[in-house]
This record gives sequence, C-alpha cells and structure tokens, in this order.
Amino acid sequence: MKTVAPVVIAALALTAASAFAADLKAAVESPDAKAILKKDALPAPTTYTMPKGCVSTDATVIARGAYIFHNLNGSKAKGDAPGGLAKKLADGEPKQYGNCVACHNIEKADGPGNIGPDLTSYKTHFMDSGVRTAAWVYQKIADARVDVPETHMTINLTNGLMNEQEVCDLVSYIISEK
Ligand code: HEC
Repeated sequence: MKTVAPVVIAALALTAASAFAADLKAAVESPDAKAILKKDALPAPTTYTMPKGCVSTDATVIARGAYIFHNLNGSKAKGDAPGGLAKKLADGEPKQYGNCVACHNIEKADGPGNIGPDLTSYKTHFMDSGVRTAAWVYQKIADARVDVPETHMTINLTNGLMNEQEVCDLVSYIISEK
C-alpha cells in the first residue's frame, strides 16, 4: 500500500493537470474575438443631407434641442422632456441624450467641459459671418468623422444614438438667438 499510494497520487495529479490544460485551452479559444470586435465596431463614416425643414425657430423645437444638449440619461434628465421628446425608449429603458455639455460650453451651461470648442454665441460667431452653415452643423452632430476622422464627438445619427429629428432639434438650438 505504502509504495502504491504515491503512484496513484501522481496519476491523479497528472489527470487533473491535463484536464485543467484542456479547460484553459477551450476558454481561450472559444470566444471569437474578431467577431466580437466586428460587432462592436462603428459603421463607416456617413455623409448626410440635412432634411428639408430641419431648422426651426419654434420654441418647442429649440427647447427640445436645449434639453438634449444639457442632459445625459433620460431617467435622470432634469425637468420634464419638452413636447414630443421621450425620456424612455420603447422598451422602457432610459433614453441617452447628447450630454454635449460634457465637452462644450454654451449659454447657461452648468459645469461645461472644454474638450470641444465653446458654442456660446454660435449664431453671431459662426453663422452670421458665413463660417458655418446649418447643414455643416447637422453633419457635425450626425457624424463628425466625415470632417474629423479621429473626432472626440459622439457619433449620433450613424450609430442610432439619435434620430434625424433630434439632430435637427440640436441644430435649431445651437444656431438660435439665445
Ligand atoms: C467627448 C467630447 C464631445 C462631446 C460629448 C460632444 N462634442 Fe461636439 N465637439 C467636440 C470636439 C473635440 C469638436 C471639434 C471638432 C471635432 O472633433 O469634430 C467638436 C465640435 C462640435 C461642433 C462644431 C463647432 C464648430 O463650429 O467648429 C458642434 C456644433 C458640436 N461639436 C456640437 C455638439 C453637440 C450638439 C453635442 C452633443 C450631441 C456634442 N457636440 C458632443 C467634442 C465633443
């Protein structure tokens, strides 16, 4: 008995070790990293034509744009969502808004970040002087990569974070007199 025991133990240890090696191999090989990366990759940069009637001076449209600009998460968004804007998605999940204020200062911004340019007095500084058009601002918000391939902006229309109307609400807000 005394001479057999170490052999049995060694055999058991060997079996356990090879079983462990087999498991580890399976764990490393089973997730297809390439497929996961492909699924998570953003669709290619897309050029958009601003829809007809996109820019509006209607107070509700501008209020929606302001709401999207200054808020991140639908369930925690400040105040009631202005006309036609939902705080939740169809499946009940809180809607994510633009959180544009995290990177941009603008009129009445509360604790804005400065990763992006200051959008205060946008109409006077950029529109009236002809430096920017509404269509350009639309494209920037919809998919900034067309203009700046390595942009820090969120890609809002191409990845479905926003719909066309929400991009139009933001354009209307940014270029409005404030
Ligand atoms: C993570 C930071 C970040 C966020 C969030 C962000 N932006 Fe930007 N934004 C930038 C940067 C950086 C630029 C400079 C140009 C570029 O990278 O495309 C920019 C440029 C812009 C411009 C062009 C300004 C000009 O005339 O030169 C507009 C308009 C704009 N952003 C609007 C928005 C709106 C609206 C949102 C919210 C939906 C938003 N941004 C969210 C970083 C951000």
